[in-house]
Amino acid sequence: MAKIQVEKLNVHFEKNHALKDVSISIEEGEITAIIGPSGCGKSTFIRCINRMNDLILGCKVDGNVIVDGNNIYDKDVDVVDVRKKIGMVFQKPNPFPKSIFENIAYAPRIHGVTDGDGNVHKASKKELQEIVEWSLRRSALWDEVKDRLDKSAYNLSGGQQQRLCIARALAIRPGIILFDEPCSALDPIATAKIEDLLIDLKNEYTVLIVTHNMQQAARVADKTAYFYMGDLIEFGETKQIFENPKEKLTEQYITGRMG
Ligand SMILES: Nc1ncnc2c1ncn2[C@@H]1O[C@H](COP(=O)(O)OP(=O)(O)OP(=O)(O)O)[C@@H](O)[C@H]1O
Ligand SMILES: [Mg+2]
Repeated sequence: MAKIQVEKLNVHFEKNHALKDVSISIEEGEITAIIGPSGCGKSTFIRCINRMNDLILGCKVDGNVIVDGNNIYDKDVDVVDVRKKIGMVFQKPNPFPKSIFENIAYAPRIHGVTDGDGNVHKASKKELQEIVEWSLRRSALWDEVKDRLDKSAYNLSGGQQQRLCIARALAIRPGIILFDEPCSALDPIATAKIEDLLIDLKNEYTVLIVTHNMQQAARVADKTAYFYMGDLIEFGETKQIFENPKEKLTEQYITGRMG
């Protein structure tokens, strides 16, 4: 069974038909890059996977997004539950105006911790400390911040803030993480760290990453999806998309003859 099965997804912003009949099947443990020219619907697409578009006035979503066998657009679905299983990291690092520790401990403290049997209990202080350390180690930030966990997250560099946001996403133990151009505000060294981290997270997490950087897509992604003006033009193995695209539109884009 696919981890994420998208069926006939259509999104309208008022009269603007931003996504047109998009169907795609994403396997567990893979990294999928979403590429295409500005305005083609990349962000809109990944925002459908955790129902972030629900928050936008005038946005209408039709179709199915089936995650682990359940349609997240079914009427009785609790959106908070959906977002607990699906983490998101944005273009601009957006830490809370809190300490490094609190940035990560915040969600587990509010939502509780799930034990091995699937039961949720209130997080103890020790458990929160463990979650914070685990998440920071996992996002390759621990060594840089372990001596200043009580200091404001705003004191961190941009690249460190982005890894903190990844740690914060990991702390809720999501199965899926959505990245919307996570490196576009970062320098090449910070970018390389995030890319290493993405590759390290592979297999354990299902990752969707929007990127304008085609080298980045080629480096990290198993599969690549090319969008153009709201249509999913082509989806396949990254190597095939970049070396042997089937569609003319894909070829034009990856050879730099468009957008
Ligand atoms: N909040 C919104 N309100 C109205 N229209 C929107 C909104 N968000 C996106 N759109 C429209 O939907 C279409 C797709 O936008 P989207 O942001 O998904 O593009 P994108 O591929 O992520 O572009 P970029 O590479 O510039 O980030 C565009 O026509 C855009 O104007
Ligand atoms: Mg975008």
